[in-house]
Amino acid sequence: MATRSDEAGNAASNDGAVFYVKQSGVGAGPGTNASAGADAGAATSLIGADEPCPFLTDELLGSTDPASAVPAVFDCVPDFDGAPVTWDRIRELHRSCAPNPAAFGLLWTHCRIVALLARDFARRYAFRAKRQGLSGPNEQLVVVGGLLHDIGVYRVFAADGTTFDHDRYLFHGLEGWLILHENGFGERIAGFARDHTGVGMTRRDVLDEGLRLPADDYSPRTLEEELVMYADKFHTKSTPPTFVSPAAARRSARRFGEAKARRLDRFAEKFGEPDLEELAAACGMEIRR
Ligand SMILES: [Fe+2]
Repeated sequence: MATRSDEAGNAASNDGAVFYVKQSGVGAGPGTNASAGADAGAATSLIGADEPCPFLTDELLGSTDPASAVPAVFDCVPDFDGAPVTWDRIRELHRSCAPNPAAFGLLWTHCRIVALLARDFARRYAFRAKRQGLSGPNEQLVVVGGLLHDIGVYRVFAADGTTFDHDRYLFHGLEGWLILHENGFGERIAGFARDHTGVGMTRRDVLDEGLRLPADDYSPRTLEEELVMYADKFHTKSTPPTFVSPAAARRSARRFGEAKARRLDRFAEKFGEPDLEELAAACGMEIRR
């Protein structure tokens, strides 16, 4: 069985694998836009780019669907002081934390992809929940969480600024939690950074594997955190960045034991599996099969 240190070391390749949600239900997301593939030329500029547009999916999918747009102001997501979080503030935090432009491009791209996938999982889940008379997730919070979940990775780059310090990668969740508190985002948002490792890292995992982390539970604590953690399994920050198929994500989870693989299966039952083909093509990235 792989150790959590292995996972940390492989986090550049395993930390996130991406699925784009299959369009099996109403409200499943923007991926129905037929122009996605044709727009791949524009989309590839996303990698490493600092596009000013506050919309996530227009660049990725050429969508004209207003419902797919991400707001510039997340008025349903207050920070510690009660002020709404904004897209510009999130992007500027990424920029200020990045040791160099390449690191910014890598993380900003990964986080936008995770946010997009998590939002689409959230929409599909909300559609099903509504039919059962249940409330769905806070979609804006899911997007904000996706955009910020890996902010701590900027603090675990090696001295060369281009590779990860594998001994410190394990701490990126706590580093991110601290960055978000330092910058006034508050616990509700900071939790996304702390609680997205693997398919949920428990206190027992920390103790059994002898990890140099405070003995605590780092599993998602809210529906929104679950969505971001799950979406993160389908895209990697490897070189080059790559999407990860559901089968490959399951293989990664199983390296940490059958219980972890079954836990991923339960999230798949809860949120569905992504259809990555269109999104990967739009991003100009491969899919790990
Ligand atoms: Fe991630």
